[in-house]
Amino acid sequence: MTVRELIQQARIDRVEAEILLADVLGVERAWLFAHGEDPVAEPALNLFTDHANARRDGEPLAYLLGYRDFRSLRLGVNRHVLIPRRETEHLVEWAIECIDTGAKRVLDLGTGSGAIALACKVERPDAMLTAIDCIVEALACAKANARSLGVQVEWLESHWFEQLGVAQWDLVVSNPPYISASDAHLQQGDLPAEPDSALVGGQTGLESIEHIVEHTPDHLVPGGWLLLEHGFDQADAVIACMQDRGFQHICSRRDWSGQPRMTGGQWQP
Ligand SMILES: C[S@@+](CC[C@H](N)C(=O)[O-])C[C@H]1O[C@@H](n2cnc3c(N)ncnc32)[C@H](O)[C@@H]1O
Repeated sequence: MTVRELIQQARIDRVEAEILLADVLGVERAWLFAHGEDPVAEPALNLFTDHANARRDGEPLAYLLGYRDFRSLRLGVNRHVLIPRRETEHLVEWAIECIDTGAKRVLDLGTGSGAIALACKVERPDAMLTAIDCIVEALACAKANARSLGVQVEWLESHWFEQLGVAQWDLVVSNPPYISASDAHLQQGDLPAEPDSALVGGQTGLESIEHIVEHTPDHLVPGGWLLLEHGFDQADAVIACMQDRGFQHICSRRDWSGQPRMTGGQWQP
């Protein structure tokens, strides 16, 4: 079978088929266009066929490739971690603004693949990052990413703040689970393959956010900031929650598609 025939017969999105075949062959995607008539032999042929079948069955492209690009980083991912999203790149931008105004001690809550902590550390090496997750396999993935990037982050296994004692940070940033357990979106796209622990924020979707808003003030220095990613329809609820807890200068920001997808506030006791 040739390169062109394999891509045509894969019965998955054409660009995804090209990305998967390029990955299997260890070439750039551009190479495929100049080598359409080249034969593809075993074992690449079988591996590509397995990947295409898995993709048709709903396995996310990122899990098949084993990575997802996030800002300047190529992050290893597996079934224990959320596939890093473009929306979260905006949250990192906001965190970096805070770091640039002096918030050097940063805590990433629910780090998953390490996306937020690692992007902050790589882009602002003078920041000191601590990152926690309650899923030990997710932490292993984040640590492996840190090793391959050659950066230092303090990784801790913790159920939110439980293992953090009385430590305080200048900035707490989190992309917590925020989808309601009964939300039909959980059955769509890549979500069925991603871990519930990374997606579901209880029945209301807001349970993790409410817990984080409640407890973050104990771990923020005066003047410190909390930045949270949330669903496109949750900004009002998150603002209200932060107001009730006593945060100030609360504001939401929009993602690349214009949706209010993150909210932050400053802690002034
Ligand atoms: C939406 S994912 C975000 C992952 C990563 N920060 C990102 O933006 O790609 C939420 C993360 O929170 C973690 N998590 C869920 N409940 C937690 C808890 N009670 N304590 C600590 N981490 C938790 C999950 O394991 C998951 O890695």
